[in-house]
Amino acid sequence: MRDFQAILNDIHSNIIKTKDKGVVASYIPELAHVDKNNFGIHLRTADGNHYGVGHFNKPFSIQSISKVLALAKAISFKGNDVWKRVDVEPSGNPFNHLSLLELENGIPRNPLINAGALVIADILISHLKNPKEDFLNFVRDLAGDPSISYNEQVAQSEKATGFKNYAAANLLKSFKNLENSVDDVLDFYFHQCSIEMSCSQLSKAFYLFVNKGKCLMDKAHLTESQAKRVNAVMLTCGFYDEAGEFAFEVGLPGKSGVGGGIAALLPNHFVITTWSPGLNRKGNSQLGMKALEQFTSKTKLSIF
Ligand code: DON
Repeated sequence: MRDFQAILNDIHSNIIKTKDKGVVASYIPELAHVDKNNFGIHLRTADGNHYGVGHFNKPFSIQSISKVLALAKAISFKGNDVWKRVDVEPSGNPFNHLSLLELENGIPRNPLINAGALVIADILISHLKNPKEDFLNFVRDLAGDPSISYNEQVAQSEKATGFKNYAAANLLKSFKNLENSVDDVLDFYFHQCSIEMSCSQLSKAFYLFVNKGKCLMDKAHLTESQAKRVNAVMLTCGFYDEAGEFAFEVGLPGKSGVGGGIAALLPNHFVITTWSPGLNRKGNSQLGMKALEQFTSKTKLSIF
């Protein structure tokens, strides 16, 4: 039996000594205010235990991590039809890259790059009665926590500056891969990215991907096969042009966000989440990746 709390404590004390903590994202101005000395790590195991150290209860902007939850909701509505509008290939490019989208006739490479997430947002707007309210309630239900909310300032900050996302949405619209208006899709997308959650809340929300599609409350949101596919997309596409490096170093399906969070998991075993706002050159949390590499190396718990 491993002493997970001792392992997390050990990783925490190693990581906080690291001098180069990366750079906090500033292209969304509202994110630039976050202190890069924050570092939290949290583990929730399939046997019902959980462990945390550092700032694991402090909410942060989940940003692109929300794309996985949105994908799960879209699949619960559309099943395999989702894959008619978005592919499942790694892009090998930054999250906001556009030229492939034009070359590939408006079919985004995968649902975890921005263009793909905009298509998923479009699907959700078409299927939810009150899209923003209903999506937030879905996330709250997954985490069993009604306190989870959008950060309106972060959403507005991205609305004022997210020009590449406007470009992506307009390209998608020109290829007829958006049913709703560009403005409605972007408004929904900026809000989903602005959701604030702590590591411990994220560990709960991601539990359905550990548990064959059933959330912590044992409700089936996805079939076992759908959960398997979402995990495959996280493994191959969850870290953009660093997906290979993450598989190589860590060896778990996962998803990062420019708020500095990472959620990763070993199916049937555990969810592990980290938060450290400083990013590396590829836009993934510098210390979060290091911490997860130490975790899977120390415990020998990875998919490989
Ligand atoms: O669309 C954007 O640029 C942000 N709302 C989300 C980007 C993001 O989190 C990329 N992740 N590493």
